[in-house]
Amino acid sequence: MTIYPELNGKRVFITGASSGIGAGMAQILAKQGCKLVLHYCRNESGIAQTLDRVKVLGAQAQVVRGDFRDYASLGQVFNQAWSQFSGLDGLVNNAGLITKTTVLDDVEGEAFNQTLAVNLQAPYRLSSLFAQACIAAKQPGVVINNSSIHGQQTCEWFSAYAASKAGLDAMMKVMAVEWGQYGIRVNNLAPGVVPVERTVSILKQPKFKNPWMKAIPLGRYGSVEEMGAATAFLLSDAAAWMTGSVLTLDGGLIARGSYPYRD
Ligand SMILES: NC(=O)c1ccc[n+]([C@@H]2O[C@H](COP(=O)([O-])OP(=O)(O)OC[C@H]3O[C@@H](n4cnc5c(N)ncnc54)[C@H](OP(=O)(O)O)[C@@H]3O)[C@@H](O)[C@H]2O)c1
Repeated sequence: MTIYPELNGKRVFITGASSGIGAGMAQILAKQGCKLVLHYCRNESGIAQTLDRVKVLGAQAQVVRGDFRDYASLGQVFNQAWSQFSGLDGLVNNAGLITKTTVLDDVEGEAFNQTLAVNLQAPYRLSSLFAQACIAAKQPGVVINNSSIHGQQTCEWFSAYAASKAGLDAMMKVMAVEWGQYGIRVNNLAPGVVPVERTVSILKQPKFKNPWMKAIPLGRYGSVEEMGAATAFLLSDAAAWMTGSVLTLDGGLIARGSYPYRD
């Protein structure tokens, strides 16, 4: 369904569009008439499927590949994305490594460094290049980072992931402040638990599902389409005065906090 007609023809680069939330974002933005540049790293069949789906919806779309652990390659990735439709109106930094390890199992910091590279350093570089190109082209722009509720509240196993997302929330605010004068808006999404190909079978198991359903006030998981709808909102004129914000979509999970349950 078209919700934001002003997005028709807008050129949007979505990183990590080969599965999960990024693929859901691509579908919702395709329905708004956006021209899409879809990024993937390893999942060739996944990106082919996303491409097919958005084309069936009538969207023009191109694909770029890149491993964001390689900081030096990001300039080339960005240039390819920018040139597909002779410029970009929006950048969605969605690609992410969801790392689960205890600190003591990662004493060398390999998982930590890779997570920071993909989840924080790559959005820094791509956003900087995007802003620079928008300023040179004298055009406005929108940056959306897919953060996480782990940027705000976290737990064991997520030191690298939580650090990357809290860093992304802080970095977004600075970029919003610095780039407001150029008409470039920067905001973050903070999803809660959203089943994706990687997690759907685990999250169906009663030992995971039951405690989550008790902890999430709205009593269900989120969907990739809902994350796509929030992305469309942040790109649209409905969010024209919104910059420097974290939009939390978690069914009320972190509002509830860790108070003991009362039946
Ligand atoms: N699902 C949730 O519950 C949830 C909650 C909060 C936040 N998020 C955030 O949502 C974003 C998408 O995650 P998802 O849940 O949809 O998981 P996903 O299906 O595993 O998607 C991750 C995406 O990131 C890409 N990626 C992984 N490593 C990369 C690398 N080294 N270089 C470049 N791209 C790389 C993957 O590409 P390839 O597969 O092609 O390699 C894939 O497209 C992440 O930023 C995650 O932190 C998810």
